[in-house]
Amino acid sequence: MPLTIQHNAEPTSNVTREATAKFEPNALRTFTPTQAVIASSAGVFHWTPEGRRLYDFTSGVLVSNLGHNPSRWMSRFTEYMGWPFPDGRTLSPHPEVCKNSLSAPVAPDGYFLAVPMTAYNAVTPVEIAATQRLVATLRGREGGGRMEQVMWAASGSEAIQKALWAAAARDRSRSMILATRFGFHGKKGLANAVTGSESDAERDPRVRFMTFPTTECRDICLRDRPFDPRPYQSELDALLHQFGRKLGSLITEPYLGGGGSYHPPKAYLQLLERFCRANDIVFILDEVQSNFGRTGRLFAYETYGLEPDIVVLGKGLGNGVPVAAAVGRSDVFGSLGYGEASDTWSANPLQCAAVLATLDEYEAQDVIAQMPIASEIIEQGLIGLQTMPFVAHVRGERGGMVWGVEMQDHAGRTAAEWANAFVLASYLGDTPEGEGVHLLGPLSKKVVRISPPLTITPLEATKAIDLLTRSAHRLLGSAASSSLLAG
Ligand SMILES: Cc1ncc(COP(=O)(O)O)c(C=O)c1O
Repeated sequence: MPLTIQHNAEPTSNVTREATAKFEPNALRTFTPTQAVIASSAGVFHWTPEGRRLYDFTSGVLVSNLGHNPSRWMSRFTEYMGWPFPDGRTLSPHPEVCKNSLSAPVAPDGYFLAVPMTAYNAVTPVEIAATQRLVATLRGREGGGRMEQVMWAASGSEAIQKALWAAAARDRSRSMILATRFGFHGKKGLANAVTGSESDAERDPRVRFMTFPTTECRDICLRDRPFDPRPYQSELDALLHQFGRKLGSLITEPYLGGGGSYHPPKAYLQLLERFCRANDIVFILDEVQSNFGRTGRLFAYETYGLEPDIVVLGKGLGNGVPVAAAVGRSDVFGSLGYGEASDTWSANPLQCAAVLATLDEYEAQDVIAQMPIASEIIEQGLIGLQTMPFVAHVRGERGGMVWGVEMQDHAGRTAAEWANAFVLASYLGDTPEGEGVHLLGPLSKKVVRISPPLTITPLEATKAIDLLTRSAHRLLGSAASSSLLAG
């Protein structure tokens, strides 16, 4: 039976939740004890239909890095599409996308003139503008030297699949893929094949998993400890000995996101890259989650001192418009045949306009340079939560905007129960205004993900951390009562 979540004092939201349980019961959402119903959003805030304000500590799922509905982003997006303003004024398409118009086109009655929303088997100038800008942006950053061409996609998993297809097409006799264990690359196709570990059901025989150093980075306090690469080097040597030239590609995330927020020592990722270089293996970095600033730099390959052959982008790339891309070496992408990676939505003008607006925004305002103060406030606040007996570890990126808070068993409750109860208590809040903090359902059952928009201000960060801290204390105080710990 699907779970119908209901919360007291949320009658309007409860009706929506009931309908969700009836018509979209299981497949769409990962479990969350809150099932927040969001009526409207702006910046770092969501509002429930009952009018409660929530600090969004999820950014969707690390998507709206620039906050929800940023006005300047929206007007750039609208302008790239050539859409009318709400007051009925129309714009001609952005000058960059209509430089060479021969005559002024006229829309028939009932239509307005704008960039088409779909252009399969055709090319729109907005697509080429986005493609060139994206390549230039990636190449312009340290470690971006191999960024030459783009394969667009509508979701992260699709872009991962395209990257792996291209790597495999380079040499069909080298179809084996190395993936770091407990990574998350998506739930579909080859992206699912490289997700998780060998013990999951129905593994793809082409995929082999390699250990990710989770123990060494289980807590922020271990961040600067020396890293011993030898066990990992031995593992790579053994895999090479066993499979030799059959190994054609290696895929990893810069940090394990869905796998529990593990941020590895740089030396580990650099070891993987050296292994790939030495053995002519395509090194694929999955930045679907980390891209556009989560690790404190625009791209995680800068943070970690890497030069990947292919980088996979998604989530924050469109700030809410579904778009993803694999960007990388032209010789690798060129090994796919004409149309082999095509589909209805990829390079859709809507997506490309969103990408241009996102790139504009990162260029026009120094989003990342403004992050450190809020980042430090949040990190110190989360470290403070470690005084709670149910909090085991805090992990995160120094100067970044993504953390995981791992819970532990305490007072007869499991870590998973504490994690769910913390998410719920943070959502319900306790101020007179009913303010709360919106969090994702726990990762790996017991890790609470913290990932607000990068544009959160120091004041907003302080207030949200204060709410989280009070929720943790309230939870501990009410540990005996089963209400908050029922999840
Ligand atoms: C690192 C990483 N790669 C790939 C994906 C899959 O992206 P999508 O859900 O857009 O298919 C995700 C999604 O959470 C992710 O975090």
